[in-house]
Amino acid sequence: MTTGSDLIAQLERLGDEFAAVIAPLADEQTIRAAQAQFLGKKGQVSEVMKELGRLPPVDRPLVGQAANRVKDTIAAAVDARLVALAAARRAADLARTVDVTLPGRPCGGGHLHLLTQVRLELVGIFAELGFAVAEGPQIETDWHTFEALAIPKDHPARDMQDTFYVADEIVLRTHTSPVQIRTMQGHPPPIRIVAPGVVYRRDDDATHSPMFTQIEGLVVDEGVRVSDLKGVLLHFVNRFYAGSGGGLDVRLRPSYFPFVEPGVEIDMSCRFCRGGGCRLCKGSGWIEIGGAGMVDPDVFAQVGIDSERYTGFAFGMGIERMAMLRHGVNDIKLYYEGDLRFLDQF
Ligand code: PHE
Repeated sequence: MTTGSDLIAQLERLGDEFAAVIAPLADEQTIRAAQAQFLGKKGQVSEVMKELGRLPPVDRPLVGQAANRVKDTIAAAVDARLVALAAARRAADLARTVDVTLPGRPCGGGHLHLLTQVRLELVGIFAELGFAVAEGPQIETDWHTFEALAIPKDHPARDMQDTFYVADEIVLRTHTSPVQIRTMQGHPPPIRIVAPGVVYRRDDDATHSPMFTQIEGLVVDEGVRVSDLKGVLLHFVNRFYAGSGGGLDVRLRPSYFPFVEPGVEIDMSCRFCRGGGCRLCKGSGWIEIGGAGMVDPDVFAQVGIDSERYTGFAFGMGIERMAMLRHGVNDIKLYYEGDLRFLDQF
């Protein structure tokens, strides 16, 4: 038969046991867990207290008081242990030798992607010549991308730019030339803009990617001539590839784009052999960098500009290709893979 004094003895023993249990514990979490084992709802103190009902009522108050004492003892032991641990931590902290002469930890700085750097540089070069920046949507109407640029539905030029159709009359733009149309619709001449941006085509090899970036140029004013186009391109080529010491020439080679007349391919003298002929220019001394031409009067008619009064030129170049030519990058995919070993070189 359990008596009141048995229970009081058990409770007091629990108090002593607890002190022994937490003595080696060194962190708050395990100390709290031990506390719960003793004081929690299913803890050892509660187990003892279950016996209380079996005692004659007169014995109960003393046992209750003993239980409260044990709870206080345990709580005080926890507090004391935590205070001691905190003090020990602080002492260890203070005792630590800090070498204030150690160099700081480097925090690696990021930088702009090569293509972004090149795009900003290109825009800067054209800004020197008074060009503003224009933008247009990447998801574009068939009309802005093709029709208004004199590429009707059955035109063979569409095959060269076979693209991703979002809906019947909506495409991912294949070039930045639709920005020409949007700009001419929105502003009367004089116009002098460059339009950098992402374009999409069904091409995929070492020098072509289904997604790449171009920069378009458009100048419309009274008296704009092919020589103005050539002058702008000469300035651009020598500024952008100035690392090679300037003196690069530009050659306009007859070509065909439906929205310009005449249309040309832009060649610059090979910056690697300076025109002498090498492997990179395949011995020709020239490297192709884009397309250009004088704005076709049919295009002016589409956007309501009087082609008797105004003339203009347009050009388009691939930004990846320009960066490739400048830095000797030989695979277009390197730009998009996000490999820091490649990107950190620029
Ligand atoms: N839009 C043409 C292309 O992507 C390039 C170009 C632009 C040609 C402007 C002439 C004038 O191939």
